[in-house]
Amino acid sequence: MEENIYAAVDRYIRERLGQENEALIHARQSIQQYQLPDASVSANQGKFLSVMVKCCGAKRILELGTFCAYSTIWMAQALPADGKIVSIEADPLHAAIARENIAFAGLSDKIEVRHGDAFEILEQLEAEKQHPFDMFFIDADKPPYAEYMLWTRRLGRVGALVIADNVIRNAQVLDKSSVDVKVKGVQRLNDMLADSADFTATILQQVGIKEHDGMVIALING
Ligand code: SAH
Ligand code: DHB
Ligand code: MG
Repeated sequence: MEENIYAAVDRYIRERLGQENEALIHARQSIQQYQLPDASVSANQGKFLSVMVKCCGAKRILELGTFCAYSTIWMAQALPADGKIVSIEADPLHAAIARENIAFAGLSDKIEVRHGDAFEILEQLEAEKQHPFDMFFIDADKPPYAEYMLWTRRLGRVGALVIADNVIRNAQVLDKSSVDVKVKGVQRLNDMLADSADFTATILQQVGIKEHDGMVIALING
């Protein structure tokens, strides 16, 4: 079968600019090994996240939704020596696989996986005064995306970068009468951003080897 044009271009970019090192290959292979549905970002999206880390000079990053730590490792490898990522994961198996992948990558001192529900851990991080964070990657369950976005204002510094994955969902966001809770969740976020003075935001529409989707790219306003 002829390769989809977007997949072919994705591969073209990946072969030049999205090469995975051993740690990333190991993390990606763990997803297959455990026969999990691949919810991780693509290699090119991982590279995009790593460019963003460097671009905003992030030292402290908070990720919601670790899965097998594929995106986490991409971001961690772009951090300076004193940089740190806290990544939240509710599923115990995912958290265990992530920790193994992070250890294999030699990044256990840079990445802390916190196992638990995102809201619980967000409360914990605030109570422990782990903030402010310089960058956020929101990629956990989609129904509370708008609430996760509001949490970034509590835990982020002014000017912090917030990226939220999967906010276009194969153009299902266009369907105002969608009953899909994931679609409704991201619609609520996108509509909230349209009316918000708290964020300067856009959505980057994405095609490639994954489904047609998009990422919110937002700055926390002062
Ligand atoms: N960021 C990862 C992919 C994350 S997939 C990558 O790109 O490599 C989404 C993850 O969010 C799953 O592992 C899922 O278990 C986790 N998740 C779902 N609901 C959650 C919740 N309420 N709190 C924390 N994690 C959650
Ligand atoms: C799923 C979650 C994601 O964040 C993603 O990028 C793709 C799939 C999922 O839960 O299936
Ligand atoms: Mg995602």
